[in-house]
Amino acid sequence: MSKEKPGKIGVFDSGYGGLTILKEIRKRLPEYEYLYLGDNARAPYGNRSFDIVFDFTREAVEELFARGCHLVILACNTASAKALRSVQQQVLPEKYPDRRVLGVIRPTVEILGTITDTRHVGLFATPGTANSHSYRMELEKMWPDVRITEMACPMWVPLVEAGEADGPGADYFVRKYIDQLLENDPEIDTIVLGCTHYPLLLPKIRQYVREDIRILPQGGIVAESLADYLQRHPEMEEKCLKGGGVEFLTTENEDKFDSLASLFMEEEVHSHRIIL
Ligand code: DGL
Repeated sequence: MSKEKPGKIGVFDSGYGGLTILKEIRKRLPEYEYLYLGDNARAPYGNRSFDIVFDFTREAVEELFARGCHLVILACNTASAKALRSVQQQVLPEKYPDRRVLGVIRPTVEILGTITDTRHVGLFATPGTANSHSYRMELEKMWPDVRITEMACPMWVPLVEAGEADGPGADYFVRKYIDQLLENDPEIDTIVLGCTHYPLLLPKIRQYVREDIRILPQGGIVAESLADYLQRHPEMEEKCLKGGGVEFLTTENEDKFDSLASLFMEEEVHSHRIIL
């Protein structure tokens, strides 16, 4: 059998949010090479229709495949909710039977049922993810006794993309969605940050959520689930390039991406602009 050339692990998000996942993946699996793609020029995806999110996600995944990735992580809940299944069912079997695309929702739901005591959980997400009810549907399959309240937070991604996550203006909108969620279900003991941008708002979110409520960011969960996947799929693991480096691609202006991405990654980032 002819051996395929190993490639970097692709990590895709609509913008900066996937960096919160990449950071944790690199901590857990530092030996691999990564290729990050942020579609910042077209972010946010959160209010867009299914067809558009699918088209944008397919373009990004095919770009990462063309650049040698065999495995791509959709480090974006909106893309995972609205495009992952279609990419897996319509795009991969016909065009890329040996490549794989994984999302962030299933690994999060797997963990969720193991940690809630009250069996009442909350979700903060983009309108696209919340309205797709992907979390509710996955929970019904895996943990039917857990009740989820899904809260769309349309203002949170724009705040992060604008670099205002820790600005004084963010407080109003952070508090607004928290109050609404906890009014809707006061028994919630665990809240999922179901958008990869939201960990950047965590200091403010923590400020307005009662201390006894757990807040669950996804980075560590996705990193652990990827480690487990690679262990269970040695044929894919062999195709993942080792080296420990990371390359960044963005569809927006490089300087703009680099300054904010360096802050999020806590290291210097130098990206290249591409057109999808
Ligand atoms: N980081 C994406 C997510 O996890 C973001 C969203 C957006 O572009 O609206 O849903």
